[in-house]
Amino acid sequence: MSNTILVGAQWGDEGKGKIIDYLTHHADVVVRTQGGNNAGHTIVHGSEKYVLSLIPSGILHRGKVCVLGNGVVIDPVALLGEIDALAGRGIACTPENLLISDRAHVVFPYHRVMDAFREDRKKGRIGTTKRGIGPAYGDKIARTGLRMIDLAKPARVRAAVLAANQLLKQLGAPAIKAAAVVADYEQAWKRLQPHVTDTVGHLHAAMKKKRRILFEGAQGTYLDIDHGTYPYVTSSSTTSGGACTGSGVPPNKIDSIYGVMKAYTTRVGEGPFPTENAELSDRLHDMGREFGAVTGRARRCGWLDAVATRAAVQVNGVDRLAITNLDGLDGQEVVRICVAYELDGQELQRVPADVEDLARCVPVYRDFPGWKTSTEEVRKFTDLPKAAQRYLKAVEKLCGAPLELISVGPGRHQTFHA
Ligand code: GDP
Ligand code: IMO
Ligand code: MG
Repeated sequence: MSNTILVGAQWGDEGKGKIIDYLTHHADVVVRTQGGNNAGHTIVHGSEKYVLSLIPSGILHRGKVCVLGNGVVIDPVALLGEIDALAGRGIACTPENLLISDRAHVVFPYHRVMDAFREDRKKGRIGTTKRGIGPAYGDKIARTGLRMIDLAKPARVRAAVLAANQLLKQLGAPAIKAAAVVADYEQAWKRLQPHVTDTVGHLHAAMKKKRRILFEGAQGTYLDIDHGTYPYVTSSSTTSGGACTGSGVPPNKIDSIYGVMKAYTTRVGEGPFPTENAELSDRLHDMGREFGAVTGRARRCGWLDAVATRAAVQVNGVDRLAITNLDGLDGQEVVRICVAYELDGQELQRVPADVEDLARCVPVYRDFPGWKTSTEEVRKFTDLPKAAQRYLKAVEKLCGAPLELISVGPGRHQTFHA
């Protein structure tokens, strides 16, 4: 493996953390390039479970360099909480193994207040994680944000809070105490400053030494600000192009692109989801699965949507697929794949741009016999039940990219090559 981008091919929570953990063996540097602590990446090592939000999953491996790139938005207090929680479990984040971009934008408490304020309206809820992600990226694009390097200048923090308070007043939301934010962020800066650096320079130096870089995507293709089910999306570029802008590594240095997908589909938050299925949701929730890693919310579940996943393969340039949670379908009599949408008597092969249209799309399904036996102990494609093999072959064909990895459980060892 050389430089590899890994993205979610659905609506997030595809099992990216688990696959990153598997691929980190073959990488020297692991980089987050977008999103913030709205992400929740789960890694299970034996009886230990880790959920990482901001810190790249590579931190669980010794000797790997982890980078928070310029495209990430960082809540410094949340980041320190994550660093301390890892330290409590014997994993040290040092200025050598955790580098933070000096250009990454900062999430402030007023971003969280604005996020929650918009979410608490009756109409137009997105179902965000309320981590302040949208308002922080909003400030970035409006050129009113602060970057990590600005934390060295408390007067800038104070001015930003005072300006935000004007907006909060207009919204009818309570003001934020500027002195408290300045003190908290000054404190956070003292601890984070040794990690803050020109990460673009570091990544280029690493490439010169032939170090292999793994780009850890957060969220998923249909939460992408451009390619997702707008406005029910997150505020960053979750698709593969975002990995380049969010790191300063150019497209011609990328060697391969992994798309991670579940064997079915899940979505958390509001927005259209054509293949959503209450029965499958109930079954997975009854198994104790599909509860959000960040907010604990029950994820909405449905059948695999090959229309959406095929378009995700195109937009990201996916050249290999990793499929997780195959075992989630183990008990099914029948498994279904959506192969087209029907809208107003027309068959669609593409995801419509208007979410009202997408919400009215009726999936056209192809049904496959279930395998009705556990796959959790399987470690080889040819040892999978024949029906599961047929299902996976169909997924590969319908999604338009070769299947490389299969995951049949949350554990590190429950992964094998197709
Ligand atoms: P991410 O955000 O894409 O990293 O995914 P999450 O960690 O939010 O959600 C994926 C969930 O599925 C986590 O609870 C993982 O431990 C779990 N998981 C990943 N792969 C498998 C699998 O093959 N089988 C089972 N049973 N669980 C899996
Ligand atoms: P990982 O990296 C699944 C969803 C939220 C909401 C929308 C906008 O773990 O796959 P935001 O707080 O980003 O403004 O919320 O995006 N969302 C995710 N859903 N997995 C995630 O990350 C998500 N991050 C955000 O639920 O619908
Ligand atoms: Mg997640």
